[in-house]
Amino acid sequence: MKIIAGNWKMNGTPGENSARLREIKAAVKEGENRVIVFPPFLSVPDAAAILKDTAIGVGGQNCHPRPSGAYTGEVSAAMLKDAGCGYCLVGHSERRQYFGESDAFLREKVIAVTEAGMIPVFCVGESEAEREDGSYGQVLRRQIENALGGLALTKETFFLAYEPVWAIGTGKTATPEDADETMGMIRSILKETGLPEDLYLLYGGSAKPANAASLLSRKNIDGLLIGGASLKPADFAAMAAYTDGDE
Ligand code: PGA
Repeated sequence: MKIIAGNWKMNGTPGENSARLREIKAAVKEGENRVIVFPPFLSVPDAAAILKDTAIGVGGQNCHPRPSGAYTGEVSAAMLKDAGCGYCLVGHSERRQYFGESDAFLREKVIAVTEAGMIPVFCVGESEAEREDGSYGQVLRRQIENALGGLALTKETFFLAYEPVWAIGTGKTATPEDADETMGMIRSILKETGLPEDLYLLYGGSAKPANAASLLSRKNIDGLLIGGASLKPADFAAMAAYTDGDE
């Protein structure tokens, strides 16, 4: 079983996304993989309604850690859950970079998402400079230790996504060998942090039909978090149909 997740980011009006959801419903065949879409908030209720009788899950792209209150513009984990979400992204690099979200704040979100009964899909990843100067291991360790150290994570209730920032939306994909090696390093960091090393690990960063199978066939890669290519129903469905031995 692989996890094939589509992060739509800030794309599509509710009308456009309803059409996209219907196309995805028609194109994605039920199979061995767990398929999830992360539409913008305004399309979450439509996603839940349109995908109701399918095995495709729905997730929020973000949430606020507090349950309610004076946080203008924010959405709580309980609101997402009630609207039909089973998952929520936490710590996407765009949230870290453009909205200044710290490891400590992301830790609160992981706890809130879990308490609301959803699966956090927690993202980590290094910048291009950190990859080049060789400090990426320390960066990943810091992101994992600070946000997750001491939490009771389980394979069934928490997913981790490795998304090298230099590969997101750039067309530059980490080679399957590099991604696999770095994700093996993430398993060691998890173990050294006292967390389960067998968590589902998703790779994200310019994943597309042409490279999906070679990424998914690697030992440490249990799924994909797909941005741009997930907006095209046929491409998304092709990746969702991966089966072992497809490479
Ligand atoms: P991309 O985005 O596939 O467009 O590179 C991945 C992500 O940011 O989740």
